Amino acid sequence: MPHLISPSILAADFGKLDAEVHMLNESKADLIHVDVMDGCFVPNISFGFPVLKSIQKASQKPLDVHLMIVDPDRYLEAFVKGGAEILSVHQEACTHLHRTLSEIRNLGAKAGVVLNPATPVSTLEDILPLADMVMLMSVNPGFGGQKFIQNTFNKVRKLRQMIDNQGLSTLIEIDGGVTDQNAQSLLNAGADILVAGSYVFKSTDPKATIASLKGLERAYQV
Ligand code: DX5
Ligand code: ZN
Repeated sequence: MPHLISPSILAADFGKLDAEVHMLNESKADLIHVDVMDGCFVPNISFGFPVLKSIQKASQKPLDVHLMIVDPDRYLEAFVKGGAEILSVHQEACTHLHRTLSEIRNLGAKAGVVLNPATPVSTLEDILPLADMVMLMSVNPGFGGQKFIQNTFNKVRKLRQMIDNQGLSTLIEIDGGVTDQNAQSLLNAGADILVAGSYVFKSTDPKATIASLKGLERAYQV
C-alpha cells in the first residue's frame, strides 16, 4: 500500500475554510485530518460540530478525525454522523478502550487509537486487533507548529514489529511536527500515514508541499 498524506486543517486559515478545503480536494492529499480539542484533555480548544459540518460539506476526501477530548464515548455517534471515516480516541482518555474501539467499528467508522509521546506502544499489545489505525503523537497534543520529538522513531519501529508479529494490517499514523526533515525516515521506519499541518499550510505552495510528501518512496514495504 502506498503511504497516505493527511493535512491537518488546524493550520488552515479559518477565515477562508471553504477555499482551504477545496485546495485540499484538488491536492494529492488522501485524507483531511481534523483536530478536535476540548480545553480539558489538552490545554487548547479548537472547534466543534458546526465547523466539522462545514468541512464535511466541502470535502471530497475522507475525514480523519482526532479527538483530544475527555470521555470521548459520549460523542462517538455524533462524530461518525458528522462525517468521520476514521475516528481516533486517545488511549489516555479511555478507561475501557476495548469497548470504545468496538463501538466506533459498530458505528461504521474505522477505529483509531492515539498515544501521547509519554505512553509506551506496549500498552496497546492486547488491543491491537481492534484498531484499524494507531496514531503516534510526535508532539504533545494541543497545538500545531511544535517541534518533532525524536523518540517517535523508536516508537514507530516497535509498533511496526508488534503489528507484523501479530499479522495485522493496522496502519501507523504520525502526528505533529512532520516536515521534509523527518518524513522520509518516518516512512522508512514503518509509518503509513503522515499528518502535516504547519508544514503544508504555512508553505508558499501548499499543494506542491503535499505533492512532495506524497511523492516520497518508502523503503519499508508492507
Ligand atoms: C496537535 C494536533 C496535530 C497538529 C499538527 O495537537 O493533533 O494534528 O495539527 O500540526 P503540525 O503539523 O503543525 O505539528
Ligand atoms: Zn491531530
